[in-house]
Amino acid sequence: MRVAIFASGTGSNFEAIADNQRLQQAGLEIVQLVCDRPQAAVIEKAHRREVPVTVLAPRQFENRQAYEQAVVAQLAPLAIDYIILAGYMRIITPVLLGTYPQRIINIHPALLPDFPGIHGIEDAYRAKVSETGVTVHYIDEGVDTGPIIAQATVPVKPNDTLATLEARVHAVEHQLYPAVIYDLVQKNN
Ligand code: GRF
Repeated sequence: MRVAIFASGTGSNFEAIADNQRLQQAGLEIVQLVCDRPQAAVIEKAHRREVPVTVLAPRQFENRQAYEQAVVAQLAPLAIDYIILAGYMRIITPVLLGTYPQRIINIHPALLPDFPGIHGIEDAYRAKVSETGVTVHYIDEGVDTGPIIAQATVPVKPNDTLATLEARVHAVEHQLYPAVIYDLVQKNN
């Protein structure tokens, strides 16, 4: 199964997927990293693993659609089966969705439909819930609204700081995302 990973930041999920031996053995090929931020740490992580990188800064394009058309043009020759969003901080438009229908997945650091948006962990922490979690879902035109593929819960402990909770949520992401992608690879074979 050939995938492009889209990321904007640190790339710990990229790393968890790229370094997962079982996934590689099952036939996952990360053929491209697409990044919208030239300074993102994930770029170096891709270089180190010899994953080809495309950096496209959205502000060089007239609008979102034009930006995504450029992304689609980059990916077209690569015969991508799935797009894996891993901390990609942009809304996906119908340009990409129409090109890869039901083929774009995302990971969100909360139990959707609770705490959508970019501060999923912090919002759960501030709401003082006793349990939060991680969701992997298909992308649709909304923000964190597409059909859910898998979820895992994460306890919030009474003495948690935001940092300790973040670390616990991220650790679960790094387990859940490769596991979901493994299932996709099996179905795609
Ligand atoms: C993760 O928490 C993911 O759920 C969210 O963005 C974060 C990306 O972290 N969508 P990283 O760049 O993979 O370390």
